[in-house]
Amino acid sequence: MVRLHRLILGELVSFGCASVVLPRLGCFSVEDFALHASRTMVNVEGEALSELPLMLMLVVGQHGVLHCRHLYCRQVCDQTVHRSIMTDLPVETYPRATLIDFTQRYLRRLGATEDEASIVADGVVTAAARWHPGKGQGLEKLFRLTEQCECGGIVPGAPFEIVRETPATAFVDAHKGFGYVSAQRAMRMAIAKAEQVGLGGVLVRHSNHYGQAGYHAETAARAGMLGMVMTNALAEMAPWGATEAVLGTNPWGLAIPRGEQFPIVLDMALTMSGQGMIRWAFREGRSVPDNWALTPDGRRSTNPAEFLSPDGSKPRGTQLPIGEFKGYGMSLFTDVLTGVLSGSLFGTNVFTDVTNHDVGHWVMAINPTTFMLPDEFQARLAELVHQVRSAAPIQPGGRVYLPGEMEFEREEATALSGIPIDRATVVRLRQLAADRQVACPL
Ligand SMILES: NC(=O)c1ccc[n+]([C@@H]2O[C@H](COP(=O)([O-])OP(=O)(O)OC[C@H]3O[C@@H](n4cnc5c(N)ncnc54)[C@H](O)[C@@H]3O)[C@@H](O)[C@H]2O)c1
Repeated sequence: MVRLHRLILGELVSFGCASVVLPRLGCFSVEDFALHASRTMVNVEGEALSELPLMLMLVVGQHGVLHCRHLYCRQVCDQTVHRSIMTDLPVETYPRATLIDFTQRYLRRLGATEDEASIVADGVVTAAARWHPGKGQGLEKLFRLTEQCECGGIVPGAPFEIVRETPATAFVDAHKGFGYVSAQRAMRMAIAKAEQVGLGGVLVRHSNHYGQAGYHAETAARAGMLGMVMTNALAEMAPWGATEAVLGTNPWGLAIPRGEQFPIVLDMALTMSGQGMIRWAFREGRSVPDNWALTPDGRRSTNPAEFLSPDGSKPRGTQLPIGEFKGYGMSLFTDVLTGVLSGSLFGTNVFTDVTNHDVGHWVMAINPTTFMLPDEFQARLAELVHQVRSAAPIQPGGRVYLPGEMEFEREEATALSGIPIDRATVVRLRQLAADRQVACPL
């Protein structure tokens, strides 16, 4: 381990690297990195090496990424870096343009219109660029999209029908269209309303999985508004105190505009983790934190095998909510708003029939100019951000992040290094594309 560590540092120097980007830890000069590394990278043997994987991206001066290596460390800081983004399972990396082009052509073959293919491709490729592949929000989404498009669960070209409308609200029927598309169209509608009357809220029924909640909320922030987005989803969370899943991970996206700077985007499932990350840990042979899930008999465990079928393919047990009973309450609220009130499926019925996932979304834009002049809002926000960033870190030299910052940094890093796709996903995609006569550059 120490040898690998020294090798990388040696290479850094010999390639004349100016800086090192460690996702979730930030950017260091080579000298700082050497210091930081000597303090935090531990000389460990055996199992401890597999606890905290980080991928080291070497950024060479102005010339972009030279290459990537895996680096292991045990203690980076007290924060949840171990839920970080990198892996030592094999991945293939591709330029964003290649992935966008392939995904669009593939979706067109499934029947998506040009507009739909463009929106969905941007959603899944952006997710691949921002999140750990184990989150399952990237190109692996094409598996389910394929199944749904081919069995009628998703209806390409579905109308986006306004059922009822007021100046501030709309109630929309997505008629089983792509969730990514309905959420984007709903947010554009909410923004238009917020421009007119200060606030726009759109409730969508009979939709499908929409990918990253934060991606849709960010659309509001890019238009200078605060965004709030929710959806219901497959039941994976037990009500607090129970052992059977009734509620979904029901992710929320909350976004705040910051002018020319990247927006603040809190993009989170209401569970501590999704099943994808548990399956990923199982494949890697790692343990998971004991607050991620409960076994079928309601115990906590760090062994991912206890949450999966023997071959690791099927879930067992339930995902634990964020903030214990508080996250459970938030998930219940989300299901009431997006499931019960919208007229879509709710509770244990959501996502159970591939021909009719039938989820609902709540999408809201808040125009800050309704309450305050934009410059004043941005100045006050900048002051708050300054206070947040200046808070004394737990570890000396540690860094305080804004919500979404890690994902934006990772997107920037993968724009240089290529976007990593799980090799097992690549193999499956090649087959799917071949079966449908879609040229596949992967
Ligand atoms: N559509 C669906 O049904 C569905 C369901 C579940 C999750 N998702 C999506 O999966 C993705 C991953 O969700 P997740 O909950 O696993 O994400 P996560 O737990 O990795 O991160 C949640 C949020 O916390 C922020 N964060 C993390 N560590 C931080 C730190 N140290 N300091 C400051 N902020 C920090 C992140 O920037 C992010 O905004 C999201 O895009 C989510 O919308 C979608």
